[in-house]
Amino acid sequence: MQLFLASSLLLLAAAIAPTRAQRITTIQLDGVQYFISRMNPYSPELNYFLAYQYCRSLGLQLASFETKEKADSITTYLLNAGYNKYDFWTSGNNLGTDMYLWMSTGLPFNATFNYMRRMSNVTPYQHSDDSMDPVDLPQGSTAPQRTARHGTEHVMANGCVALKQPDFHWEPQHCGEIKDFICEQTRCYYYNYGSIPVSSAQG
Ligand SMILES: *[C@@H]1O[C@H](CO)[C@@H](O)[C@H](O)[C@H]1NC(C)=O
Repeated sequence: MQLFLASSLLLLAAAIAPTRAQRITTIQLDGVQYFISRMNPYSPELNYFLAYQYCRSLGLQLASFETKEKADSITTYLLNAGYNKYDFWTSGNNLGTDMYLWMSTGLPFNATFNYMRRMSNVTPYQHSDDSMDPVDLPQGSTAPQRTARHGTEHVMANGCVALKQPDFHWEPQHCGEIKDFICEQTRCYYYNYGSIPVSSAQG
């Protein structure tokens, strides 16, 4: 019933957003539902933040790749679909901190595999951890240390992670760049919320 309700709501959201009665196409890949902007002729290319909002307007979220298998599946799919001329935003970013986090799940990048391009030609505003040495990353932690970095300058440069054409390695890009993007269904594996029903009169 809950599942039915959830999928009805998703269908409803898909039907009314972002403009009325717009038909959208999603795919199911290894049990995960994805919206790939390139598959949808009316879907615009967007910056990271607008891509996030667009996904939310569909009841989805920007995609996160927490396992190697999931990352490999989408990469293979994009290559086979012939989308290798386009970059795709993921939910990954290091906005305002010194580690890479998936915005959609709140988790750090998985330290057991690394698809981030090694940066040889260092760009001026690059953060020191862009080489993504696996040893620098917390091991599968769900409660990483998030240390906010001071300063607002250059946060957006190399702040957001895209799958980069032509081979879809991961690369931090300026968050303001206009790109294709990948949304996925929302999930939360890690917590049992144990909600307490209350009324507003209680306190
Ligand atoms: C990290 O990736 C490995 C390989 O895909 C996977 O088995 C493991 O579950 C992942 N860890 C997390 C926390 O998702």
